[in-house]
Amino acid sequence: MSNPTTPLRAAITGGSSGLGLALVRALHERGALVAFVARDAQRVRRVAAELPGSHGIVGDIAAQDATHRIALQINAALGGLDLLVNNASSLGPVPLALLADTDCEDLESALATNLVGPFRLAKALLGSLAAAARERGPQRPGALVVNIVSDAAVTPYAGWGAYGASKAALAQLSRIWDEELREHGVQVLAFDPGDVDTPLHALALPEADPATLKRPAEAARELVALIETALARAEPGA
Ligand SMILES: NC(=O)c1ccc[n+]([C@@H]2O[C@H](COP(=O)([O-])OP(=O)(O)OC[C@H]3O[C@@H](n4cnc5c(N)ncnc54)[C@H](OP(=O)(O)O)[C@@H]3O)[C@@H](O)[C@H]2O)c1
Repeated sequence: MSNPTTPLRAAITGGSSGLGLALVRALHERGALVAFVARDAQRVRRVAAELPGSHGIVGDIAAQDATHRIALQINAALGGLDLLVNNASSLGPVPLALLADTDCEDLESALATNLVGPFRLAKALLGSLAAAARERGPQRPGALVVNIVSDAAVTPYAGWGAYGASKAALAQLSRIWDEELREHGVQVLAFDPGDVDTPLHALALPEADPATLKRPAEAARELVALIETALARAEPGA
């Protein structure tokens, strides 16, 4: 994941809570150079203080006018980018609602955070990722985008319409972009963490027993393993 001269340069959206926070911690622990994004400035500051050398960026990935500032801050903080994890997410209507009871604005908001935001941010950072892919060699691991999806992208759970539709679109976007970016050496993967004990899960299913859910650190370990496997198989000069 890193060597003494060239640590992995990683950006994670939604890095102040749940899976994103566990991933920020796991990558930081492995010696990666980490920048993370979330909206709540206080929580961003708290995480950055907990992890010396990490870079907290306050921003809303759903806001069109914030994308380029966030991308610039990521590049400035890391000096380039090898890994982008689009993890921040919106449930849409809370409490969850049947589609017939879902306001169009709530559907739009889920799509803005879960699909258009990740697309916009990845697009703004594509030059940096392609540059990292070109530099791949003993010093550089290649370039990767991981989009966090859900089984709600595949299974039509009643009440999960806005979220499920946005995650299904993100999963297909990932597959198509992976094909299109192959010649540039940038991989794009989707990852479903399973049922994880996080604030988002508690918001969606308050009656769920946390003891039956995966710990965020365990989901983050699985994600790190996926990242390591993907970067290890990146083709030199692809
Ligand atoms: N938990 C599960 O069981 C589960 C299952 C399947 C998939 N997932 C997926 O896993 C990912 C992580 O979810 P989680 O459960 O860890 O959620 P979480 O604990 O609620 O954390 C969400 C993070 O995203 C940030 N965020 C939310 N909206 C944002 C925005 N518009 N701009 C920037 N940051 C934003 C939040 O901070 P701020 O509020 O301060 O912005 C927070 O840091 C999501 O993609 C989710 O869909 C989770």
